[in-house]
Amino acid sequence: MEKALPSYTSPPREARAKGTSVGKALYGILVLAVSAYVLKQGANIYDAFRPLPPHASAALSRCQSINLAAGPSPDFYKRKQSDRYEPGTKTYLLKNARIWTGDKNGTEVLHADILIDKGIIKGIGHVRNAALQAYKEELIDIDVNGAWVTPGIVDLHSHLGDASSPALEGASGDDNSFKGPIQPWLRSLDGLNTHDASYALSISGGVTTALVLPGSANAIGGQGFTIKLRKTSERSPTSMLLEPPYQINSSFPPSSDPPRWRQMKHACGENPSRVYGFSRMDTIWSFREAYNKARQLKVSQDQYCARAFAGEWDALAGQPYPEDLQWESLVDVIRGRVKVQVHCYETVDLDDIVRLSNEFEFPIAAFHHAHEAYLVPDVLKKAYDHPPAVAMFATNARYKREAYRGSEFAPRILAENGIQVVMKSDHPVLDSRYLLYEAQQAYVYGLPENLAIAAVTSTPAEIMGMGHRIGYVKEGWDADLVIWDSHPLALGATPKQVFIDGIPQLEHPYVYDKPSAFQRTPRVPNFDKEAREAVEYEGLPPLEPEPSDAGVVLFTNVKSVFRPVDGAVREVFTAQADEQGVVVVEDGKIACSGMYEACITPSLLSNAKVIDVHGGSISPGLVTYGSQLGLEEISAESSTNDGYVYDPLMQQVPSIVGGDDSIVRAVDGLQYGGRDSLLAYRAGVTVAITAPTHRRFYAGLSTSFYTGALNKLQEGAIVQEVNALHVTVRHFGGTPSISTQIAALRKLLLEPSKGDAGQYFKGVSEGRLTLVVDTDSADVIATLILLKKEVEQKFGRPIKLTIAGALEAHILAKEIAEAKVGILQVPSRPFPTTWERLRILPGHPLSEQSSLAVLLEHNITVGIGIEESWSARNTRFDIAWAALDVGGSITQEQAMALGSTNVQLLLGGEIDAEDVHDMVVTDGGNLLDFESKVVAVISPKRRTVDLL
Ligand SMILES: *[C@@H]1O[C@H](CO)[C@@H](O)[C@H](O)[C@H]1NC(C)=O
Ligand SMILES: *[C@@H]1O[C@H](CO)[C@@H](O)[C@H](O)[C@H]1NC(C)=O
Ligand SMILES: *[C@@H]1O[C@H](CO)[C@@H](O)[C@H](O)[C@H]1NC(C)=O
Repeated sequence: MEKALPSYTSPPREARAKGTSVGKALYGILVLAVSAYVLKQGANIYDAFRPLPPHASAALSRCQSINLAAGPSPDFYKRKQSDRYEPGTKTYLLKNARIWTGDKNGTEVLHADILIDKGIIKGIGHVRNAALQAYKEELIDIDVNGAWVTPGIVDLHSHLGDASSPALEGASGDDNSFKGPIQPWLRSLDGLNTHDASYALSISGGVTTALVLPGSANAIGGQGFTIKLRKTSERSPTSMLLEPPYQINSSFPPSSDPPRWRQMKHACGENPSRVYGFSRMDTIWSFREAYNKARQLKVSQDQYCARAFAGEWDALAGQPYPEDLQWESLVDVIRGRVKVQVHCYETVDLDDIVRLSNEFEFPIAAFHHAHEAYLVPDVLKKAYDHPPAVAMFATNARYKREAYRGSEFAPRILAENGIQVVMKSDHPVLDSRYLLYEAQQAYVYGLPENLAIAAVTSTPAEIMGMGHRIGYVKEGWDADLVIWDSHPLALGATPKQVFIDGIPQLEHPYVYDKPSAFQRTPRVPNFDKEAREAVEYEGLPPLEPEPSDAGVVLFTNVKSVFRPVDGAVREVFTAQADEQGVVVVEDGKIACSGMYEACITPSLLSNAKVIDVHGGSISPGLVTYGSQLGLEEISAESSTNDGYVYDPLMQQVPSIVGGDDSIVRAVDGLQYGGRDSLLAYRAGVTVAITAPTHRRFYAGLSTSFYTGALNKLQEGAIVQEVNALHVTVRHFGGTPSISTQIAALRKLLLEPSKGDAGQYFKGVSEGRLTLVVDTDSADVIATLILLKKEVEQKFGRPIKLTIAGALEAHILAKEIAEAKVGILQVPSRPFPTTWERLRILPGHPLSEQSSLAVLLEHNITVGIGIEESWSARNTRFDIAWAALDVGGSITQEQAMALGSTNVQLLLGGEIDAEDVHDMVVTDGGNLLDFESKVVAVISPKRRTVDLL
C-alpha cells in the first residue's frame, strides 16, 4: 500500500507508528511541547525565543488538532452533571431493579438500586443512606419490584425527523439529495423535523438515542447526527444532539480538545444505481474519485503542517492552511475520526467497499442491512484497521435482489464469526418503537442472550462512538434507562417507564403485570441445522416441505389441541401436568387425539412414525392477508412479479380484457413455491389470501392458496378461486380524489353493469360476495358505512363489507359494530405512516386500550394482516403480541382466530370442516409461543403430514 503521508509529517501518533527517525520524532515532540505551551500562554512567550510570522500560532494549533484522535475528553467522567441536564429535573432512586448493565460482555445482571441525578447515573447498588441524605425530600423513590431494567435502546440506523411521519409533501424525504452521488458535505441535522410523530412512539418502545443518517440515494449521502429522542426545553433540532461535533457551528474548528466522533453515510448497490442510472462500476468510481480528492487535500495539509512544525515559515509565506468545506469531512474520514456507516447488501458490494477502505486507509464502523454479510465474514475481516460491525433487520428480507439471500440466522452466524452484531430499524422502514423485537427475533434464531440485548444497547453505542456515556447502566453514564414489564427478550416486552437524561418520559404509562412466564429468559428452539444450511446453500436453503412416507404419524407429549369448530377456534384437549397427550394421524387425517391410553394400540405403535413434540401443540393453520404473497417473489423486481392490473379510474382498459368493465382474478397470476410463501408455511401459515396487485382504486378478485404447494396443479394448491372483491380508497396524491373513488364505488354498487365486473359488483350488492375496501381513515370508513346503508336500501339485503387497513377504525367502533362491518387490521401494530393513519390508538404504554381491544369490546369480527410478504412468517408472533396488548383478557382460542378463521371469514372464505382443516404441529410450546417451533403440518385434503 502506498502511504498517503510523507514520513516527516508531524502528528505524534503517526510519526511513532510509522517509524520516523528518532531525531525527527524528538524534534516533533519538542515542537509539540512548545506549541502546546504557546497555545496555552499566547504567542508572546514563544516570541521570546523565536519570532513568528502572523497567524503562525493559528496554523500550528490547526495542525495540532488535525491528528488528535476522536473521543471523549480525558476528564469526561469527572462530570457532575450532564451537558444535557435540564434544570428542574428531579432526583430518582429506582429500588429493587434487575439490571442488565451491559458490562462483562453484556452478561452482568445486578439486583440493585439506581440513583440518578443531574442527567447522570450517580450510583448503582445499595446506595448508602448518607449519600441519599444529601437529597433530603427532593429524592423520589420508585420501587420497581424486581422489574428488568436495561440501558435505553440505541438505534444505529434511523431516519427519524428526516423522513418524518406522517409523510407529507412539505416535510418528508428530507433525508436524500438528488443533486449528485457524492454529497459528504450534507448533514442530516439540517433536515431534522422536530414534529415527527414518531418521537413519542419510539420512546414508548424504549428507544432513547438514534443515529439519524442521510438516506441511501447517494454513494456518499452526507453526515449523520446522533440525537436523543426526548423533547427539550429549547425545542430545537440542535438541542436534541448528543455530543455533536464542533463542526456544527464552526467550519474548521481548531481545538485542543479531542474532536467528537462524526458519522458519515455511504451507500452502494441498488439504491445509488437506481437514482443515478449507475452501474456498480460507476458507483465505486464515484467513491474513489471523491476519496482521491480528499486524500490529496489531506496530503497537502500534512505537508503544510510538517513545514509549520519544522518552523519553515518562509516557505509557507502567503500560503494559507489548505482546507475545503466540501471535502473536510471526507478528510476526517481518512484521519480516522469519522464513524463510516455503509449501506451495503451483497457480497460484491461488501467486497468493493472493503477494497475502498484499504485503498484509502479508513476504517468502516458498520455495514448496514448487509444481507449477505453472514456469507462472507472473512471479507469483513479484511477491512482496513478492524472488521466492521453489521447492523441488520431480523427477518425483513427478499424485498429486492440485494436482500434475497438474507437469513434470520445472520446475527447468530456473524456473532459466531466474531463480528459485532447490531439490530437496527432504518426507521420508518421498521417502526423503531419495536426495535427490541428485532433483538428478540435474533435471539429466537440463535443469537446468544447477552449479545441480543447488547445488539440494541451497548454495541450500537460503541459503534457510534458514544459507548462512554450511553448503552450501559453504569455509574457516570447518562441516565437513559428503561424499566420493562417483562424480560426484555420476551415477546411484547413493553416499557413501564423510560428515562432520558434522568427525565421520565411516560407521563401516564399504561401497563399491566405480565405473568411469571414472561419474567425469565425465554427458551429458544434449536435451529442449528437451518443455520448450517443457510450458509451451505448461500442463503437459498431448500424450503420445500417433505411429506412423511409413514402411513401413521404419532405425535406424543402433546400439551394441547386446538381445532376449528363452527367458524371459531376451540381448545379441544389439554393435558394436565402428569398426563401424556397424543395425536394419531392416519393418511393425513387426525384419527385420534387425547390421552395416550385412549388412542394407542400395540399394532398402531408398530408401524407408526413417532414424533415427540415436548409439550407442543396442534392448532389450525394460520391465514395471511394484506401482502402480495403468491403474486410476487422479489417485490422490487418486476420480472419476478405478476404486475399491476389496469385501473379504469385512471386509464382506458384495453377492450380485449373487457374494457372498463373488466375484472381480474388474482388466482390467474399465482406463483407457487416462493420463498416467502414457504417460510410462512414453515411458520404455521398454511393459507394466503391475496388480492390482485394494484396501484390505486381498482383491484379485482382475491384468491386463497395453500402456501406449502409447489405448483397450481398440485392437489389442494388452490384453496378458493375467488374470495372477495377488492377496491382501495385512499389519498393518491390528489387524483383521483377520495370523493371520486367513492362516486365510482357507489355507481358500481348501485348500478352494476351487465358486463364482467358488473356481475361481481351485483354479487356484492345482493349480499352474495364480500366487498373488501382497503382504507384507514375514519372519515372514509364513515362514508362507507353510509354507502353500505344506501346499497342495502336499494337491494333490500344486507351486504358483506370488510374494511382492511382500518387503523382509525377504533374511532367508529360503535358505528362499525352496528353496521355489521368486519375489520382486518393491517398492520397489527399501528404506525402513522400517512395522514389518513394519524389517529392511531397506540396501545400500551401510551393508551389504556389498543384498537384491537376497543374493536373486540364492541364484538366486531377482527382479523390481523400484514403489509409485506416477508412478514407473513411472523403471523404467529403478531397475533400473540396483539393478544398480549389487549391486556391478557382474550383467550388463546380468540388470539388464534385473529390470525386464522376470522381472516378467512372476513375475506369471504369458506372454513373447512373440522376434519379436513390443515393443522399445524409445534414443538416445545403452542403456536403463540416464542419458545416453540413448527415441526409439521397435517393436511387431510392432501392426505399427508409434511415434516418441516
Ligand atoms: C461474549 O459472549 C459471546 C456469546 O455469549 C461469546 O461467544 C463470546 O466469546 C464472549 N466474548 C468474550 C470476550 O467473552
Ligand atoms: C458549538 O458546538 C459545540 C458542540 O456542541 C458546543 O459545545 C458549543 O457551545 C457551540 N458554540 C457556540 C458558540 O454555539
Ligand atoms: C358483546 O357480546 C357480549 C356477549 O355476547 C355482550 O355481553 C356484550 O354486551 C356485547 N357488547 C356490545 C358492545 O355489544
